[in-house]
Amino acid sequence: MRILITGGAGYIGSHTLLDLLSADHEALVVDNFSNSSPKALDRVRELTNRNFDVAEGDVRDLSSISARIEAFKPEAVIHFAGLKSVGESTEIPLHYYDHNVNGTLALLRAMDAVGCRNIVFSSSATVYGDPEYLPYDEHHRLAPANPYGRSKLFVEEILKDWAATGGKSAVILRYFNPVGAHVSGRIGEDPWGVPNNLVPFVSQVAVGRREKLHVFGNDYDTRDGTGVRDYIHVCDLASAHVAAVSFAANHNGAEVINVGTGIGASVLEVVKAFETAAGKPVPYGIAPRRAGDIAEYYADASKAKRLLGWSAKYTLADMCSSAWKWQSMNPNGYED
Ligand code: NAD
Ligand code: WQD
Repeated sequence: MRILITGGAGYIGSHTLLDLLSADHEALVVDNFSNSSPKALDRVRELTNRNFDVAEGDVRDLSSISARIEAFKPEAVIHFAGLKSVGESTEIPLHYYDHNVNGTLALLRAMDAVGCRNIVFSSSATVYGDPEYLPYDEHHRLAPANPYGRSKLFVEEILKDWAATGGKSAVILRYFNPVGAHVSGRIGEDPWGVPNNLVPFVSQVAVGRREKLHVFGNDYDTRDGTGVRDYIHVCDLASAHVAAVSFAANHNGAEVINVGTGIGASVLEVVKAFETAAGKPVPYGIAPRRAGDIAEYYADASKAKRLLGWSAKYTLADMCSSAWKWQSMNPNGYED
């Protein structure tokens, strides 16, 4: 299939691109490199021994995205491009709505113009908000607690309306907590500045870039008092996209699907697994709770199995060993 991948140079996009090329799909990447490096794409070429075109551009730019789509004539689009920092979204909410919502609108208009009917979209478990029950299934009430999460929810609703116009398919994937890296250690997560997320922070402590991890709260009502999340290996997430794109090609309408393992791990369990993977201690201290954090959440991942025939196969140990391989082989990310 010919697949346009927006945000394909990013963390999840680059791993998915690699899987799509390995499955013999043809790809075009559109990325403005606002949060990624073109080097990730070079490394995907090198790992797959496959070439693909890259268009540097912004998904919000209707004329440019239309021209790309017109020339490439994709049969499906996987839409990763967007902004993803929860904290930043509370400071510059309009920027988030512009990239995430207006970017999607421009993309859908450009797709409509050439009759491209299939899209897979990166949504997030953050749309659920405070859990009324666990595991979250796809029918759980939606109550995102910040502009980032609301931008994802708005796009989900837009996609449902778009897909209802006939002969179209939107697969909305709600990711839980993607971590880890490709087994080669050549591509991985490369956050700019101080990492917001747990595993990149732990990785940078282990490699000596940061002194210690701050564990945000150890007085939650969880098994060891620290926050529990459903961490999912980025390579499992990538294979879920390959399955979703095939599903989209054979179905009409919108489907919302959780992508997680169904298993929660606490902050201290992640630290322990990482220490084992890296073979060294990860110093940490207990800090106050982080505003807006939820104590515990994890996925009901049964719909993904039922509809896509997909389920996660990697363990927390695999996630930590691959994250460590990437971090130790590339202590400064793609910068070197
Ligand atoms: P990322 O920042 O690594 O990748 C996003 C890519 O999109 C980057 O390459 C960036 O340069 C590009 N981009 C951003 N705005 C753009 C624009 N307007 N036009 C063109 N390119 C643009 O992030 P990621 O972790 O790979 O996330 C991919 C998607 O998955 C995002 O939509 C994110 O919201 C969603 N998501 C991520 C997580 C997570 O924890 N990483 C969890 C749930 C959902
Ligand atoms: C995990 C756990 C923290 C950092 C975020 C977004 C969510 C989604 C995934 C995009 C929590 C604890 C963290 C640290 C810590 N992204 N922690 N010290 O908050 O579950 O989800 O990323 O859609 O929308 O909110 O992930 O990795 O930040 O935190 O103790 O330095 O680790 O309190 O319990 P989170 P995270």
